[in-house]
Amino acid sequence: MYKIVVLLSGNGSNLQKIIDEVLSNNIKAEISAVISNRADAIGLQRAKTANIPAVTLEHTHFSDRESFDASLAQIIESYEPDLIVLAGFMRILTAGFVEKFAGKLINIHPSLLPKYKGLHTHKRALENNDKEHGASVHFVTSELDSGQVIIQGVVPIKVDDTEDSLAQRVHQVEYIIYPQAIKWLAQGKQIDLEKPEKIYL
Ligand code: GAR
Repeated sequence: MYKIVVLLSGNGSNLQKIIDEVLSNNIKAEISAVISNRADAIGLQRAKTANIPAVTLEHTHFSDRESFDASLAQIIESYEPDLIVLAGFMRILTAGFVEKFAGKLINIHPSLLPKYKGLHTHKRALENNDKEHGASVHFVTSELDSGQVIIQGVVPIKVDDTEDSLAQRVHQVEYIIYPQAIKWLAQGKQIDLEKPEKIYL
């Protein structure tokens, strides 16, 4: 069975969609564990409800990034995953960690990369009067939000959009593209990284 470990820091609504797609057998895989760097992450509750091992590893208990990432890597490796899915994991990972899991580590970022790497993506898209915005699923490399894109979801920006209304629309498209990307990887589908797939909401 193809094994997935999910890392998150918060609500985990993307995790929920992935759980739903696994339960409905649309993604043929097992979620072996959900790991959070925050004990209060709602995503941990979602995992427990689905009988998935939920692990907390609080970064505040570590003196530096290297030691946190080393512990995190050890926990992940104990599950022998085929894929590590960052689903709202709000930590910058060290180069050593990223290299250890190269090719197996994916992230979802709320922008049409390479636009708006980093934080406050919805605000920046609105400030720039963009006509469209969206989200990207990409392989993680040691450079922030810069790995190769697997799939993007595009949403229109409406004249009366606020950061919140836009964020909600971006979430809707995330719920389509993240399960899709994971499904492809679990199937071993050949993905054209030179010309990533785009879907429009
Ligand atoms: C998602 O919108 C994801 O794109 C974003 O966090 C949110 C998590 O939502 N990720 C990043 O900003 C990573 N830099 P969720 O916890 O409800 O799935």
